[in-house]
Amino acid sequence: MQTMTEERASFAVRPTNIAADATDHLHYLGNYVRDIPSSLPRMMENAHDWEHLPFVHPSSFAAIEEVESGTWGWRCKTALPNNGGEQLIELLVDNERHYWATTVVAGPAQGTQIHTQAKDNDAGGITVDVRFYLPQPPEHEEQAAMILGYLQAQYATLYDEDEALMLGRQEALDERKALRGTDDNSAVDLGPEAELDHARVHEATLDGARVLVRHWQGQWVAHAARCPHALGPLDDAQPDANGGITCPWHGYRFDLASGSEERGRCGALRLYRTAVEDGRLVVHADLR
Ligand code: FES
Ligand SMILES: [Fe+2]
Repeated sequence: MQTMTEERASFAVRPTNIAADATDHLHYLGNYVRDIPSSLPRMMENAHDWEHLPFVHPSSFAAIEEVESGTWGWRCKTALPNNGGEQLIELLVDNERHYWATTVVAGPAQGTQIHTQAKDNDAGGITVDVRFYLPQPPEHEEQAAMILGYLQAQYATLYDEDEALMLGRQEALDERKALRGTDDNSAVDLGPEAELDHARVHEATLDGARVLVRHWQGQWVAHAARCPHALGPLDDAQPDANGGITCPWHGYRFDLASGSEERGRCGALRLYRTAVEDGRLVVHADLR
C-alpha cells in the first residue's frame, strides 16, 4: 500500500471543488432516495464527519485514516471489512447547495462516484437523492441490476445507521440546551450506598449536565454522560480492562482515572467526585 506522502501525491492533482462536468464521462447506474426525519445542518455535519465511518458503519468500513480535510470535504484511506482491501476516498462538499460527491480514487471500485443531493421535504425532514456513477457501463443488464441492487441495499443500511447518529446528535444538542442553567446543584445524593445496584449505571443531573455513576473496580466513578468530542452517548459504553471508556460515535477512548482522551484528540471527559457520606452515595460537581 502507498505511504501517506504518496497518498497526498495521488490527491494533489485533484481540485477541491466538484467539477460541473464531473459525471459527464461516467455511466449513471441508478439512485437511492430516502426521507430522513432530521435536518440539513445534521446531514451536512454527517457528510463532513469522516471519523464515524468504521464505528457507525462497521459492515462497510473496517478502518479510516485521514489524509487531509477542510471546509471543502475530506480525503481518507479506508480499509474494507473482511480484508476487502484499501481504498482512497475523496468526498467533496458544496456546502451551499447541500450537495456532495464521493469518489473512489484508488482501490476496489476505483473511479466510482456517488453524488448526493439533500433537500428539505414537506414532512419537516430531509430527502436525500443518492446517485451512483460507474467508470464503465456494466456488461449486460443483469449485471447492472445486480450492482444497483447491491448499492441500494448498502446505502439503505448506511442511512439507517446515519439516521440513528443524526437523531442522537440532535437529541444531545436539545438535551444540552434544555439542561443548561436549569440546576446548579453542586451535589446529588443517590441514596443509601448499600442499596445501590453495583451492576447498574446510575444517573444524576448535576451542574446542568447528565452524569453517569458506575461501580468500577471496587469504587464509584462518576463522569459526564456525553462525550466531550461531539456529545456521543456513553450510557452503554462499558469500561475496558485498562480503565478506558470508548465512545460509540468516533471511537475516542477516555481514561476513567484522568478523563483524558488516549490520543489527545479532544478535551477531557468531565469527571465528578464521589463520596459515601453517612452511608449515602453523594456525587459532587467539583472536579476531583
Ligand atoms: S462524539 Fe466523537 S468520539 Fe464521542
Ligand atoms: Fe455515515
